[in-house]
Amino acid sequence: MTEVALAPLGLVLVTVWLMLPAYLANTIASIVGGGPPIDDGRNWNDGRRILGDGKTWRGLIGGTLGGLLVGHLQMTAGAGFFSGYVSWGSSPYLIFFLLACGALAGDMAASFIKRRRGQERGAKSPLLDVYDFIIGALLLTALFGGEWLWYWVDPFTIFILIIATPILHRSVNILGYKLGVKQVPW
Ligand code: CTP
Ligand code: MG
Repeated sequence: MTEVALAPLGLVLVTVWLMLPAYLANTIASIVGGGPPIDDGRNWNDGRRILGDGKTWRGLIGGTLGGLLVGHLQMTAGAGFFSGYVSWGSSPYLIFFLLACGALAGDMAASFIKRRRGQERGAKSPLLDVYDFIIGALLLTALFGGEWLWYWVDPFTIFILIIATPILHRSVNILGYKLGVKQVPW
């Protein structure tokens, strides 16, 4: 990560903090989602939906704006957390946008793959469901976020994301299910 060595727990918290706009973009999409689907109800050439009714414009736009808001709050109200260890780089809103939009793009890519495999909306796909949005967020920030990602990503922080993401994902989804914003607890 940085020149300053962080205790392992600190590094876990900072890593999760840096990815929070991506994690929450997905959660916010499930809260605000609904309405017209992105694929407009159309099918792929296999006769199945391109993405399905679970990928909507409201979810995509709301989740992206929500991720931007999360980043904004982290940078302003949350600036005191992990200060000295967290930097959003020279274009923080670009990073928030790439994290949130990348997360939702990864989630859409996963739905596309699930539909091609013949899985209906909401069907379980353990690996895809958990890692789709992290992969999307990392990919978009790697491609368009300049140096930001390389300032904190290394094999150890990737390892942290691999371990922490399923735990966070599962907890948030169970919570979402109990609150009634998600139809299934995964
Ligand atoms: N959602 C949305 N638009 C998005 C992403 C999510 O409206 N771009 C909402 C939908 O209401 C969706 C819910 O968030 O049902 C949960 O998202 P997710 O688990 O990704 O969708 P699923 O319904 O499980 O569909 P899929 O099988 O395609 O993943
Ligand atoms: Mg799902």
